[in-house]
Amino acid sequence: MDTQSVIFDPELIQRYDTSGPRYTSYPTAVQFHEDFDETRYQQLARQSNQGHPPLSLYFHIPFCNTVCFYCGCNKVVTKDRSRSAPYLDYLYKEMALQAQLFDTDRVVDQLHWGGGTPTFLSHEEIHALFQHTRRYFNLRNDDKGEYSIEIDPREATAETIALLREEGFNRLSLGVQDFDPKVQKAVNRIQSEAVTQTVLDAARQEGFHSLSIDLIYGLPHQSVDSFIRTLDKIIEVSPDRISVFNYAHMPKLFKPQRRINEAELPSADEKLRILQQTITHLTQAGYVYIGMDHFAKPEDELTIAQRSGSLYRNFQGYATHADCDLIGFGATSIGKVANSYSQNLRALDDYYAVLDGGHLPIFRGIELTPDDLLRRAIIMDLMCHFRLDIQKLEQDHNLSFQDYFAHAWQALDKMQEDGLLTFDSRHIQVLPAGRLLIRNICMIFDQYLQQQQTQQRFSKVI
Ligand SMILES: C[S@@+](CC[C@H](N)C(=O)[O-])C[C@H]1O[C@@H](n2cnc3c(N)ncnc32)[C@H](O)[C@@H]1O
Ligand code: SF4
Repeated sequence: MDTQSVIFDPELIQRYDTSGPRYTSYPTAVQFHEDFDETRYQQLARQSNQGHPPLSLYFHIPFCNTVCFYCGCNKVVTKDRSRSAPYLDYLYKEMALQAQLFDTDRVVDQLHWGGGTPTFLSHEEIHALFQHTRRYFNLRNDDKGEYSIEIDPREATAETIALLREEGFNRLSLGVQDFDPKVQKAVNRIQSEAVTQTVLDAARQEGFHSLSIDLIYGLPHQSVDSFIRTLDKIIEVSPDRISVFNYAHMPKLFKPQRRINEAELPSADEKLRILQQTITHLTQAGYVYIGMDHFAKPEDELTIAQRSGSLYRNFQGYATHADCDLIGFGATSIGKVANSYSQNLRALDDYYAVLDGGHLPIFRGIELTPDDLLRRAIIMDLMCHFRLDIQKLEQDHNLSFQDYFAHAWQALDKMQEDGLLTFDSRHIQVLPAGRLLIRNICMIFDQYLQQQQTQQRFSKVI
């Protein structure tokens, strides 16, 4: 069987229509609590040096020049370019504090700048931030790390792209969302095709290893036809990866979304048709459906990692370096160190004030229990490989799967009957019709969900 194929079954999707986590972590951020403090983080960070596992560094640059109405990211919208200089000074303070905790020879296999808009920074600031990182951490010089950055093409020139490559980045993801001018106007993101093309050409010229493009379906005025036109233009420029995010309209949570006219949003049926046509169109064009919102070329590292069973999921989506401890820098950023997650303060003033006091700006987190670790292993394997090796799990965690998850049997039986998966005492195998419903399958193993009001906190699974 082609293990990377996907079947779109509208009837099944409607039957399983619900809200649920995207499982970039387990437990999800909703479970983080304020009892987890700086002291505990410091202990765990020092412990994590045993065995010298590699590091992953995430830098959050929150600033954006204009607001896109759909946006659900953690951002600060400002036209004042002078705001980035103090922010960088605080990032350096944070780096100095974090660097004391980790052995200096731990190799940085993964580096990511996200936002907001990382290229809100000037060229001098980009250079300075990279140089500071090199001073404090053991960055690779062999171009073999996964060093990526999110680019808003409206905020980057060919020179910016050349500079980023020179500093050491080798992967780019570009925000496009939709090429249709009517859609762009309705979401306040006017971005010409020429602007996107300039950045893409520069990235090719500079030899970036992987180019990824972000699109969103479910935006105002989108229809199957209009979205296919955007897809065709994207296929023509042949990025290595394409993310097609489901627009999550949650105006109660994200204020800018209140400026979107709900009457202009595609109906639920039209949205499903857009998704269906997107999958057909991209797979016919030779892309492999990786999972959730991600597609990649068959020869891309993500596709290869999925085939070989080494794919991983983190806060940026799917990745290929599973064993890193992740240090998060900047307001709102999340780290994953030893068996814990921790998150920085969200408001810039609070983040600055704690650093001024000489402390790490961590405000909440969670230390995983053996039960969390077990469930995380299951959820990550299902999300990444659409398969669970029950025997291996039993050996790794020293338990009987059937006894431990006796309560899950009924739900698994139902999903087997519905054609989402097959299972026996040794494996769970997600079938092509279950791939789009992978969040539903994972939710069976999420022990916190029963206690939460999932409808309000999480987006729709499709
Ligand atoms: C931080 S942004 C990317 C960098 C840059 N700020 C830009 O917009 O090009 C990350 C991506 O999240 C996606 N995104 C943002 N808000 C979303 C929402 N409400 N629903 C679905 N996708 C969303 C967009 O595709 C966006 O490109
Ligand atoms: S999509 Fe990107 S540019 Fe637009 S507001 Fe969000 S983070 Fe900023």
